[in-house]
Amino acid sequence: MATFRTLDDLGDIRGKVALVRVDLNLPMSDGRATDLTRARAVAPTILELADAGAKVLLLAHFGRPKGERHSTLSTSLIQGAVEGVLGREVMFIPEVAGPVVEQSIGILRPGDIGLLENTRFWPGEEKNDREFAQAIADNGDFYVNDAFSASHRAHATTEGLAHLLPAYAGRAMQAELEALGKALGSPQKPVAAVVGGAKVSTKLAVLEHLVSRVDHLIIGGGMANTFLAARGIDVGKSLCEHDLAAKAEAILDAADAAGCAVHLPYDVVVAKEFAANPPSLRVCNVHEVAADEMILDVGPQAVEALGDALKTCRTLVWNGPLGAFETPPFDAATVALAKTAAALTSEGSLISVAGGGDTVAALNHAGVAEQFSYVSTAGGAFLEWMEGRELPGVAALERA
Ligand code: 3PG
Repeated sequence: MATFRTLDDLGDIRGKVALVRVDLNLPMSDGRATDLTRARAVAPTILELADAGAKVLLLAHFGRPKGERHSTLSTSLIQGAVEGVLGREVMFIPEVAGPVVEQSIGILRPGDIGLLENTRFWPGEEKNDREFAQAIADNGDFYVNDAFSASHRAHATTEGLAHLLPAYAGRAMQAELEALGKALGSPQKPVAAVVGGAKVSTKLAVLEHLVSRVDHLIIGGGMANTFLAARGIDVGKSLCEHDLAAKAEAILDAADAAGCAVHLPYDVVVAKEFAANPPSLRVCNVHEVAADEMILDVGPQAVEALGDALKTCRTLVWNGPLGAFETPPFDAATVALAKTAAALTSEGSLISVAGGGDTVAALNHAGVAEQFSYVSTAGGAFLEWMEGRELPGVAALERA
């Protein structure tokens, strides 16, 4: 149930100026955008507003220029990529507020699109400075936030503007919030979470939040080693944060108390060196890891058991790979479990929501991202959501 206004709530917007916050923080190489996913995600909102006759001004940050102009971080560098995705001309406007923006609005016709300069060139953006936000708001009639992946930042254009203008969630934001609501807000039970990745330290808050909310917590990646070690298992040379043993124990105790089944691997794929298809590769029980070996993936028996657990669940939230998936064959567990989740989703028995940079790459690698119910491209924002934290940009929309 949306508690925020969407584009459906807009009346006649012909000739009105829409200030639209988007995330166009595109990965670049040699001055070219290498992945247009984020631009594609916001295209429906931009086109819908333009087609309804609004003058659409895009607000976006690009990199972390820390309040200063940097020619290498100008949003003019992504103007071409945005035009390509939208199939429309986009006017670059080298300011975010003031007379230059006002004059540009005078030149734009209803339905035209403008791309404002990198919002982070001004210190007021990250400080969420009221005057800075007001100066931007002065040129707009209404505000749309379509940048979930930047909404964990309480910045002027992700949070402040929502208090100064009528505020609406864009289509991508709306889809994201609806999908996340189904996954952890009011999910169909039983719920499983896969939490993987290298380090427990980056996901402690996620694990602490999830143990009382999910029925199955599947821990993979390097972080599983920390839990195994906390249980007294010798993990050899594996990546492991031994100093977090007490925290890991506390999470396991909290899970026990909440009736959450924690799944740690009981067979693992190990090798003496971390390289593609190393000669020392073998599969063994977790209790048989030699002192000079490291765990690099979850073993095939454990993966089968995890698949069986997923078959009993109605909802899945996934963040982080199960093994060192970028180096074969340590992608096997991630790929196998992702395929099981995708098949269950296609059959209609599972709602599957995944997010985070590595996770999206892993699901794409497994060739199943399209079959998941929802895949979020948000990194930090997705993690903060999994921690149960209120995202300032989202909260501001809900209150607006
Ligand atoms: C991202 O790339 O995850 C978002 O655009 C947020 O960027 P930030 O971490 O620099 O705030």
